[in-house]
Amino acid sequence: MIEIGLIGFGNVGQDIYRILNENGSLISKRIGRPLIIKRIAVRSPEKYSNLITDPSLLTTDVNDILNDPNISIVVEVIGGEIPALDYITTALTNKKHVVTANKEVISKHKKHFFKMAHTNGVDICFEAAVGGGIPIIRALKVGFAANKIKAFYGIINGTTNYILTKIKDEKKEFNTVLKQAQDLGFAELDPTMDISGLDAAYKCSILAAVAFKLDSQVNEIVHKGIESITLKDLNYATELGYAIRLLAQGKQLESNEFELQVCPSLIPLNHPLASVHNEFNAVYVVGDQVGEAMLMGKGAGGSPTASAIISDIIDISFGISQQTSSRNLETNFQDGQIKPLNKTMSQYYLRINVKNEPGVLEQVSLQFAEQSISIEKIIQKESNTNIAEIVIITNTIEHQNFIEVETALSNLKQCNKVESSIRLYKTL
Ligand SMILES: NC(=O)c1ccc[n+]([C@@H]2O[C@H](COP(=O)([O-])OP(=O)(O)OC[C@H]3O[C@@H](n4cnc5c(N)ncnc54)[C@H](OP(=O)(O)O)[C@@H]3O)[C@@H](O)[C@H]2O)c1
Repeated sequence: MIEIGLIGFGNVGQDIYRILNENGSLISKRIGRPLIIKRIAVRSPEKYSNLITDPSLLTTDVNDILNDPNISIVVEVIGGEIPALDYITTALTNKKHVVTANKEVISKHKKHFFKMAHTNGVDICFEAAVGGGIPIIRALKVGFAANKIKAFYGIINGTTNYILTKIKDEKKEFNTVLKQAQDLGFAELDPTMDISGLDAAYKCSILAAVAFKLDSQVNEIVHKGIESITLKDLNYATELGYAIRLLAQGKQLESNEFELQVCPSLIPLNHPLASVHNEFNAVYVVGDQVGEAMLMGKGAGGSPTASAIISDIIDISFGISQQTSSRNLETNFQDGQIKPLNKTMSQYYLRINVKNEPGVLEQVSLQFAEQSISIEKIIQKESNTNIAEIVIITNTIEHQNFIEVETALSNLKQCNKVESSIRLYKTL
């Protein structure tokens, strides 16, 4: 028998319990022995006692799990950095395998955890921390293991993807759709971490660790959120042949240089990532042998997340049966430099609000010419008799160059405001 200790019994914890009940005999057959939840640690057991057949499984003392010699797998589903960091550290020290869905704690402490797991001969698995139910971690660790991963492009925040989809489809503005997403449970009451791109940045650093064996922290990953994306931008993007998605990107450049960033991006409508709508997630991977591949599925919700967690539990159980563990592939991180944003190359979309008077377009074009930047596409629309709107797509330029032209445009007397600027998806 394999005994599990569950720390946390919220959305995800309850679905782990449900799935292990519903599919328990199938799962036990797959691993060749019974798998049971021995204890569940929470802070307020009274909230949960009517949700389980045996309320005596509930405890408020996490040490009932961490110090139980018969529990071999600890599943952490409380979220946040503290006290999850302490619980995971103690579990690994006590030679227990750990499964977690916690992107923040894994992103911040992955090097420490992988080393501890290795030293103690156990595994730490975190499939559910990125992409919910999509098995992207296992795909990168095992499925694409023959490849040098050249790049990944991920829509890995369901809340922002839902908001962008609804702004466009329902022709509503950001705040209205955010409220709707909160009412439906697709966005947190405090959505800052999702909207600002921070959640995707945590996940981006985890993907970089698995794909490139690079230990990065979120403060090294430039992240920009979707707060400034408007219905106008989404409509112009469609007119120009693009969709807008919040994209987490990782690229391995020559030798030890990497590009890691999270930002809204214009993606060509014929690219598979452009067809990822609503709360769905997808990760598009470029490997040197497999070529291009994409995994897509539900990136959040108790059931898909619990599905990913149980897949980790099953994987660890195979290891226990075979007496093999500590199979983390990321123990040997490589040294690498993250390329500064200013040096990265991209095409840019710009929307400028200008005075509706003769010669404006010429003045705007001149700012680009002075920076030796070519324009790929330009649209001018009249908003009213005094105001016109110009939308531009540049050729590929260095970010620093773009900042210079953006500043020059802002200072132009015919320019009322640079309303928005968005990078274009660029493959390697
Ligand atoms: N929900 C999703 O769709 C989703 C998707 C992907 C990943 N995740 C990740 O999965 C994890 C869990 O998410 P969730 O949505 O299930 O959270 P949740 O609904 O807020 O549940 C958290 C649970 O943890 C318990 N808890 C919190 N602090 C604790 C502590 N110090 N000691 C013991 N128990 C504690 C809470 O118990 P009390 O009620 O007694 O405080 C509650 O049962 C997070 O890391 C999250 O980022 C969630």
